[in-house]
Amino acid sequence: MAYNLLKGKRGIITGALDENSIAWQVALRAHEEGATFVLTNAPIAMRMGEINKLAEKTGSKIIPADATSTEEIEKLYTESMAHLGGKIDFVLHSIGMSVNMRKDIPYTELNYDYYQKGTDISALSLHKMLAAAYKLDALNEWASVVALTYMGAQRSFPFYTDMSDIKAMLESIARSFGYHYGRKKHVRINTVSQSPTKTKAGTSIKGFMDFYDFAQLQSPLGNASAEDCANYCVSLFSDLTRMVTMQNLFHDGGYSTTGVSQEQLDALQK
Ligand code: NAI
Repeated sequence: MAYNLLKGKRGIITGALDENSIAWQVALRAHEEGATFVLTNAPIAMRMGEINKLAEKTGSKIIPADATSTEEIEKLYTESMAHLGGKIDFVLHSIGMSVNMRKDIPYTELNYDYYQKGTDISALSLHKMLAAAYKLDALNEWASVVALTYMGAQRSFPFYTDMSDIKAMLESIARSFGYHYGRKKHVRINTVSQSPTKTKAGTSIKGFMDFYDFAQLQSPLGNASAEDCANYCVSLFSDLTRMVTMQNLFHDGGYSTTGVSQEQLDALQK
């Protein structure tokens, strides 16, 4: 059901790689709610061409940008404002990649070049996107920025290796920039801490499916889907959540505050 929650709003949505991507679902929902937006991803990710289908469905322009390049991000804002006809009301940061995790390198033996690359792509990119917007004055008053994160930032999960540290940094950037941008222009910046979700980034984690099932049993509401996450992001982009900022918001069916579920205990006894 659509409520016109984003009618008249202009946005930038990063990270839609294929239809499993959380960003893909956010784009579909934002479109249903009346927003116009630009889709962006790393030029290399465009090669798959899947994003063209989403652009067609949502009537969006695609502007490639590597989120580690300040120059490309500035171009992204300038071209987005020109195309959409004004300043931006919402930004989705949905970017994550760890070479250490991809190569299955354990936390105790991390490769530091990969660690830096992962940090640049998955955390500093949020700072760069915010700093470019701040410099260009690209966001409207009360604009809303949401970055996706995972609970590995607060609790240790052996398979999440360097992304735990990187997500902690991402969440900290959201808080720190949230202060400055809030004071300057009432811009809101939050992170959404999502359940395990079957996407390219998610399923590249070793043992992901076992953990997905574990979290499903643990969460009173079950795992939150990408579609559920999209609904939540849309609510955060809307004017209904104007006073929410600098928060890390768990969107995980109750996982983060459940010690152990009866279902888990029953499964152990079998
Ligand atoms: P995904 O693989 O569909 O999306 C990750 C995106 O990051 C891709 O579109 C990729 O092209 C983009 N990206 C990588 N390097 C980039 C660069 N240099 N410049 C611009 N874009 C770049 O996977 P998913 O799961 O939708 O990931 C989106 C976000 O959600 C990530 O931040 C991820 O950590 C987070 N998240 C995912 C969970 C999961 O279980 N899938 C759980 C909690 C958070």
